[in-house]
Amino acid sequence: MTALVDGVCIDPPRLLGCHEPTSIDDAPERLLAALEESGLTGRGGAGFPTHIKMRGVLAGPAPRIVVANGAEGEPASQKDKTLLVANPQLVLDGLQIGARIVGAERAFLYVHDAPDVISAAIRALAERRAKAVDDCDVALVTAPAAFVSGEESSVVSRITGGPAVPRSKPPRVFEAGAFGRPTLVQNVETLAHVGYIARHGAQEFRRLGPASQPGTMLFTVSGSVHAPGVIEAPVGVSLAELIEVAGGLSAHPQAVLLGGYHGAWTPWRVARELRMSNEALRPLGLSVGAGVVVVLPADACGPAEAARVLRYLADESAGQCGPCVFGLPALAASYTELVGNRSAGRHRRRLAELPMMLERRGGCHHPDGSLRFFRSAEGVFADHLATHRRGRCPLPRREPVLPVPVTVR
Ligand SMILES: Cc1cc2nc3c(=O)[nH]c(=O)nc-3n(C[C@H](O)[C@H](O)[C@H](O)COP(=O)(O)O)c2cc1C
Ligand code: SF4
Repeated sequence: MTALVDGVCIDPPRLLGCHEPTSIDDAPERLLAALEESGLTGRGGAGFPTHIKMRGVLAGPAPRIVVANGAEGEPASQKDKTLLVANPQLVLDGLQIGARIVGAERAFLYVHDAPDVISAAIRALAERRAKAVDDCDVALVTAPAAFVSGEESSVVSRITGGPAVPRSKPPRVFEAGAFGRPTLVQNVETLAHVGYIARHGAQEFRRLGPASQPGTMLFTVSGSVHAPGVIEAPVGVSLAELIEVAGGLSAHPQAVLLGGYHGAWTPWRVARELRMSNEALRPLGLSVGAGVVVVLPADACGPAEAARVLRYLADESAGQCGPCVFGLPALAASYTELVGNRSAGRHRRRLAELPMMLERRGGCHHPDGSLRFFRSAEGVFADHLATHRRGRCPLPRREPVLPVPVTVR
């Protein structure tokens, strides 16, 4: 963990240090009031206020269920795996506090299926059992390495023995989730902040970050930087500072992907001025999402990178709803053909029609998130794509920048 420049320093880090398991004895109402005062918002992507979500679960009938979501299906994100290996006890403290607030009888720790993450989770749970710090027993469940395995209804399906794919809604999981019970699904980083707030108080939490989105956040910075990795920084940090902490630029940049594969591209001339909060980014159609930042070097072919990701997103859908069965594969195929300068006129017409078939039509947010990625690529890389029309890509061939795993069915 590196301290930030410009007078903002997370040293020692709030989240990525190493904590002992702690039993928090406060009453549920006081804990919930502290979360409300803290202004904590979810760190899993949507940024929803945590206390409001908990009240939604509390409004349903007992018994209730709590899940720590560490699936991290987003290939460009490493922050949840890093957190679970570095400091699983703070996540588990937060899980117990969540269970106490909503009066849950069962809790689940749902983690990415990676050996280091699983062994850190097993060790941490054994340590807590030996010290008898927990009220609520925690079951460990692994998430397959797939893009949709962390969507909240996929999470609920998997922990109840089904496949990790989204199911149609309503009811939403907070109304009737695992075993038909009201279920709180909270990202593991969000729960680590819950653990921090219970130890240090809402005011200390709010000391960093803007009033609209207080606290720190874990950012995964990769692409053309010298030291890619996970950085804890206050929400609202400038992108330039984040890149500096990630070792600085390793190549001249052309664009930055913010928020991952459901996020959006922005050109470097805009990105270099940005601050990483939703308040600053939303007017530009951007969001911090789950803190993914990928810097694309000037010698990478943006349209080719985007086409690879679109094919991946199409392959990773659960294949249950029309937009995913017909729309996403067609979108990926037409964009790939356009990038390869094949039947360009026909594919441009197709790409103009397809978004209407996708928008707000999925059983989950996957088609809309993929469409957002596509639209931003279409805009930001338009000039470069125009050069493809005059023949082949003028850039030298190089290794792909964005990680695209092989889809396993
Ligand atoms: C396709 C898809 C994949 C998702 N993957 C994850 C994930 O890997 N981890 C995660 O915490 N949330 C993921 N989410 C968001 C969850 O549905 C849910 O909103 C989140 O876990 C809530 O946590 P938070 O309120 O603490 O942010 C995903 C959503 C979608 C639509
Ligand atoms: S929209 Fe796609 S990913 Fe979401 S539930 Fe339907 S088929 Fe599955």
